[in-house]
Amino acid sequence: MSIKTKEPGISSSSLSKFLHLLSREFGVDYSGYSPSFVARRLQGLLNALRLDSLEIFICYIRQRPETLAEIQRELSINYTEMFRNPGFFYSMRKKVFPFLATYPTLKIWHAGCSTGEEVFSLAILLQEVGLLDRTKIYATDKDTSVLDKAASAIFDTSRMQEYTANYYSSGGNAEFSNYYSSGYGQLKFQESIRRKVSFQQHDLISDDPINKFNLILCRNVMIYFSPDLQNKVVGSLCSSLSNLGYLGLGATETLSFNKHRHEFAAIDKSERIYRKVSLSEWRNCKN
Ligand SMILES: C[S@@+](CC[C@H](N)C(=O)[O-])C[C@H]1O[C@@H](n2cnc3c(N)ncnc32)[C@H](O)[C@@H]1O
Repeated sequence: MSIKTKEPGISSSSLSKFLHLLSREFGVDYSGYSPSFVARRLQGLLNALRLDSLEIFICYIRQRPETLAEIQRELSINYTEMFRNPGFFYSMRKKVFPFLATYPTLKIWHAGCSTGEEVFSLAILLQEVGLLDRTKIYATDKDTSVLDKAASAIFDTSRMQEYTANYYSSGGNAEFSNYYSSGYGQLKFQESIRRKVSFQQHDLISDDPINKFNLILCRNVMIYFSPDLQNKVVGSLCSSLSNLGYLGLGATETLSFNKHRHEFAAIDKSERIYRKVSLSEWRNCKN
């Protein structure tokens, strides 16, 4: 494996060797992650643990396997927010929901859902257009600690002002506070919304794809993956989509350079919303 890193204290060869040993000895595979991201994060851990090198770090982990959880936490970025990039949700509402409304039942997958803010955001908008009743939502993440939080449907109220503004910018047309009850600095979303979602652990890299969805959101997950891994994951998301199913990515993610780009048409390029097209359809468009 040949990888490049700009982290001054960590050479490419020591990073390759470290990741290889992590995978072989502990079954934790980060070889597909962006090397500069991994190097930066590992350097932070080395500094915190006052260790000089990755060679010493691997001995440290062998003696204290519980350190693996720390590595996993460090390499997993869980940041999320409600109605993150409201323009994305507005576009979903205007350009995607009208097509979803033509199906009698719907299956939606939030891959890499973190603590669930995005999941409840979409569910609320689906409820407003009368689609939630016919929808089954799967929300997955590889990190079980965030899933427990998501499944509780309980959130801190500290960012509610910002989230309420995001909700209206997303095209929300009710009182946002209608969807939750609050007290003691926390809020809980309505059970009628919570019960539409099944939260499950799933690793996009090592687990089999799940079938078959009308819409998959995989937002701000692949930014940490190398181009090869992005190709692999987009390929498997594509196989998890029903024909003409939709795929939503994060604001800084794109299919433009992905190996599978020809299997998708852009529905809203600036909001990173794509639709799966059959290859024969795409060839017809080209001719
Ligand atoms: C930055 S959060 C994005 C959350 C949400 N989708 C959003 O856009 O606000 C990225 C999430 O992807 C998850 N993740 C990273 N690698 C993953 C993988 N291989 N399989 C599944 N989830 C993964 C992380 O655990 C994290 O919760």
